[in-house]
Amino acid sequence: MKIYFINGSPRKDMNTAQLLESAQSGAANEGAHTELIHLYDYCYKGCINCFNCKMIDNNTNGLCNYEDELHPILKKMKQADAIIIGAPIYFGYMNAQTRAFIERLIFPIHSYLVNEWTGERIKIIKKIIPTGLIFSMNNSEWKVRNRGQYSSMIMNGHILEQEFGYNEMIYAYDTYQFDDYSKYEANIFDESDKLKRHEEHFPKDLQNAYELGRHMVQKVKEFGGLV
Ligand SMILES: Cc1cc2nc3c(=O)[nH]c(=O)nc-3n(C[C@H](O)[C@H](O)[C@H](O)COP(=O)(O)O)c2cc1C
Repeated sequence: MKIYFINGSPRKDMNTAQLLESAQSGAANEGAHTELIHLYDYCYKGCINCFNCKMIDNNTNGLCNYEDELHPILKKMKQADAIIIGAPIYFGYMNAQTRAFIERLIFPIHSYLVNEWTGERIKIIKKIIPTGLIFSMNNSEWKVRNRGQYSSMIMNGHILEQEFGYNEMIYAYDTYQFDDYSKYEANIFDESDKLKRHEEHFPKDLQNAYELGRHMVQKVKEFGGLV
């Protein structure tokens, strides 16, 4: 069983990456083969709307055939039994690099064909591939709720669920953003509050992520081969 962990943050050792590493440990301890991929290692665009994946008799088979540095990564996703994507929130939304990856991952499997008799959409992916989303953000849970910021995150979960058949999401709020707050012009934050939150709460976020990783393995086994 192969599970891929996709880090959409530019930082390879901060909140999103740590959460993904914890999820990776959870999956590995359940026996999965795992690989962590850092999206910022690659130079790529989002979907360029070429429609190659929608042409009559195209043989893309659910793989975006735009040949840039993301192409080999998308090819790997074709071998995935599960995919867990981690993204920081930038200005209320999943950051652009992660979103661009999702566009390229999803559009080739998002069929525009329906069965003429049943009206059901023709599925390009024939089995359920569990997906997970891990969001990390500076805002508190209270602010995210009151500013209506869940909707964009939930929409990403819906898209993954629709195309891959299953999605789970977890959220890490009020993250520790800087390595050392005293070095930055940022008195909007109270460093001691941030540190307290980080020490008390981030271990729980890591545990949540670990459980997500474990759960993905269980879901792969549960859905194994299901359409
Ligand atoms: C350009 C930029 C925009 C951000 N916008 C938001 C935001 O709208 N809401 C929020 O809660 N956090 C925001 N943040 C904070 C990050 O989401 C947060 O620190 C996250 O945990 C960073 O993940 P990382 O440590 O893996 O890089 C922003 C950070 C950056 C760099």
